[in-house]
Amino acid sequence: GVSTISLKVNGTVRSIRAEPRVTLLDALREYLDLTGSKKGCDHGQCGACTVLVDGRRVNSCLTLAVMSQGKEITTIEGLAKEGGELHPMQAAFLKHDGFQCGYCTPGQILSGIACVQEGHAGSEAEVREWMSGNLCRCSAYPNITAAILEAKG
Ligand code: FES
Repeated sequence: GVSTISLKVNGTVRSIRAEPRVTLLDALREYLDLTGSKKGCDHGQCGACTVLVDGRRVNSCLTLAVMSQGKEITTIEGLAKEGGELHPMQAAFLKHDGFQCGYCTPGQILSGIACVQEGHAGSEAEVREWMSGNLCRCSAYPNITAAILEAKG
C-alpha cells in the first residue's frame, strides 16, 4: 500500500505518499518535480539518472526511494549556490563544452563530482574508467574528461 516516504533532497526534507516500490528516480521526477535527473534506460545502463546519496553516486533508477530515507540526496538542482553561482564542476563543463544535446549532462556532472571526491581523477584513463557507466550518445567524451580533470584542480 501507499505510505509516507521522507527524502532529504538538496538539504530540504520533503515527504511523498507513494508505494514502497517507487524508485528514487521516479520519486524525484514524478513526485517532487525535480526533473533534472533523467530517465534514459531505467535499467542501470546509461547513468543519466545518477545522483549522489551521502556523497556516493548511485543510479537512482536502481534505488528504491524508501532505501534513501535519512540520507543526503544531491541532484543537479542542488549544485549551484543561491544567487546562481555554478558548482566548479558545472563551470568546467561549460568551459570545455562537456555536452551537446545535454540529456546525459546532469548524470555526467554528478558522476564527475563523485569521481573527484572519491579520488578517481588521477589521470585521463582513470577518469574514463570511472565515467564508463555514463553514456553520451553525442560522444562528447573527450570534453567531459577534460572538464573533470580541470574541476579537480
Ligand atoms: Fe538509470 Fe539509465 S536511467 S541508468
